[in-house]
Formats: sequence, structure tokens, C-alpha cells
Amino acid sequence: MDKTVETAKPDLKQVDEILSRYQDQKWPLIPLLQEVQDEIGYIPPEAIEPIARGTGLFPVQVQGVITFYEQFHTTPRGKNIVRVCRGTACHVRGGRTILKIVKQNLDVEEGETTPDMNFTLETVPCLGTCFLAPAMMVNKNYYGKLAPPKVRNILQQYDNAGD
Ligand code: FES
Repeated sequence: MDKTVETAKPDLKQVDEILSRYQDQKWPLIPLLQEVQDEIGYIPPEAIEPIARGTGLFPVQVQGVITFYEQFHTTPRGKNIVRVCRGTACHVRGGRTILKIVKQNLDVEEGETTPDMNFTLETVPCLGTCFLAPAMMVNKNYYGKLAPPKVRNILQQYDNAGD
């Protein structure tokens, strides 16, 4: 099922404001992109041209940096980022079931965002908390030794009005 979500046009005035603050810096691109993403939630493709102009780069160079760094996103993401571990330690302790339960509860596949923009689901190779396997994160919070009912409770805590 296509989970593409129609969202409002990004406000590029925010990009101009951020650019003005980085004008005198020598190599401002990465912190600048981070700030745009923090402010808007992602880096809108329409922002690449003004960012290139403001930093004296070609748009293709800005695009190259965005593509290179996994931390940058060019599509809107949910308010809450759910990261389910796909690593070996989690896998042998039921990680696949945890991922299935998260997908069922949110009704999205990996990389997708719920239509209400509340959750984006991602998977990661290891969360670095193998002793908690099977594990997942929601935003900056770790959850471990998961079982299906616990997963449902965790997701409910972040459901819209929550968090
Ligand atoms: S394998 Fe899942 S946290 Fe390391």
C-alpha cells in the first residue's frame, strides 16, 4: 500500500534565515544542513538551490553531501522515529516478531511514515544494546527484552497526544 503523504509546502524563509547565519563561515554546509533538518524536519528538495547559492556551491554538490550522509533526509518524517534492531543478537531472540508487531501496529513498512505523520519506521543493523535483545528505540529512548504486548504499550505511549 502506498503510504506517500501529501504535506504542506515547506517554508523556505526558514532556510534563508539559517543561511544568513552561516554566511561568514568557511565550510558551513554540514552544520547548515543539520540546522535546516532540525528546523523543518527534513531537507526539502526545493531548499537545495538556495543552499547552493548561499554557500557558493553547485546544487549537485549539496545533493551529493545530502546523499552521502545517512543522517540527512529529503522527505518528511514522522514526529516519532521507531528504530527496530535487525542484528543477530536481536534476531535470535525474536527480533523478527518484534518488527512484525511494530509494522502491524503502525500499518507501515520499513522506511515509511504513518499518514498522520506520527511515526516513521526504520530498521538498524545494531542498536549497540545487544544485552537488551530484542531491542528497539523510539526517538532517543531504548527499549529492550521486548515481547509483543510490551511493544504495543510502548507505541501507545507515543500515539499522538502522548509523549
Ligand atoms: S543486535 Fe540488536 S542491539 Fe545489537
